[in-house]
Amino acid sequence: MSDIDTETSFAADKAAGNLTPIPLFELVTGGWAAKTLAAAIELDLFGVMERSGGLTREQVAGELGIQERPADLLLAACASLGLLDKRGQLYMNSPLSNSFLVEGRPYYFGGFIRYADRRGYPGWHNLPTALRTNRPTTWNPDDQESVFDRDDQLVVSMFWEAMHSMSSFTGRVLTQAVPSLSERKALLDLGGGSGALAIEACKAFPTLLAAVFELPFVCEIAARKVIEAGLGDRISTEPGDFIKDDDLPSGYDTITLSAVLHDWDEETGRMILEKCARALPSGGMIIILEDVLNEEHTGPARAALVGMNMLVETVGGKNYSAGEYIGWLTDSGFGDIRTIPCQSVTTNRIILAFKP
Ligand SMILES: C[S@@+](CC[C@H](N)C(=O)[O-])C[C@H]1O[C@@H](n2cnc3c(N)ncnc32)[C@H](O)[C@@H]1O
Repeated sequence: MSDIDTETSFAADKAAGNLTPIPLFELVTGGWAAKTLAAAIELDLFGVMERSGGLTREQVAGELGIQERPADLLLAACASLGLLDKRGQLYMNSPLSNSFLVEGRPYYFGGFIRYADRRGYPGWHNLPTALRTNRPTTWNPDDQESVFDRDDQLVVSMFWEAMHSMSSFTGRVLTQAVPSLSERKALLDLGGGSGALAIEACKAFPTLLAAVFELPFVCEIAARKVIEAGLGDRISTEPGDFIKDDDLPSGYDTITLSAVLHDWDEETGRMILEKCARALPSGGMIIILEDVLNEEHTGPARAALVGMNMLVETVGGKNYSAGEYIGWLTDSGFGDIRTIPCQSVTTNRIILAFKP
């Protein structure tokens, strides 16, 4: 049977309502694609390709210091996944790899790939334990207060680099989806991590000032990224703790919360929103960026699986629906609530609300 015949037969099976185990095979082997990508990053395949402009299988084996058989398999797998193109005998980066998988490029995505592979997946191996105990499996809550711990060397060395590689894109999506940000004066990015969102917002809107509110040791990471972006005169850091501090800093007309609320249980999420409401002036805007579930809690799959990652990584975190966030915002005194669907890597919905 040719490829086309096979696809036609799958489609015919589906249309006829015939159940096959093919979707299950695809589900269970999804991890093989993730591991292939992570190994290619580890071996710097895309960097090697970029520096050479294109290599034969034998040359790839030589450059990576591996034998020809594994080189052949890796190249075929990466090409099949859209990570490499092949012209004649030469393999080269696809546009996707060239943009996001070459270390040193401004929007390098390898930070998240490394984090997921080295820190996330070992925790996912113990998923049944997380389900049975309702406890994270990437760290031990008996030994540290939260996943964001300054003494957890693996997290410190990888987590914020991982978030930066994702959140720069979310920041750009936000500036396109909410152009009225150009009229705001000062933005406080609460739990702003590496500063990616503040950096993208200030790049897009030249009169905007911003601050990254973060745990003190994370502020040091953000300050470095801000200087690298050349925005030290417009973006500051506000060291603090949005759980322990009674009040958040005032003087900002906009607060953003990107991929923050899903780290916490509902009670904590509501408390954070109440603190935001107190800190903002009348007319102040709050923006929540999250991968939200639908109201039935049956999808979309990415939001549901990010929720499973919250089980593995946090004590009380979970993914919520837009309706749940809208309820919390309303109860905290916000009004004029709007939601904007969007496509980013950490966000499928932007929720805007205003303090009356
Ligand atoms: C999932 S990350 C999101 C980071 C950033 N908003 C982004 O989208 O890249 C959650 C962030 O919340 C910060 N955070 C956690 N607990 C905090 C607290 N008590 N006070 C301030 N920030 C906190 C973490 O340091 C981390 O950077």
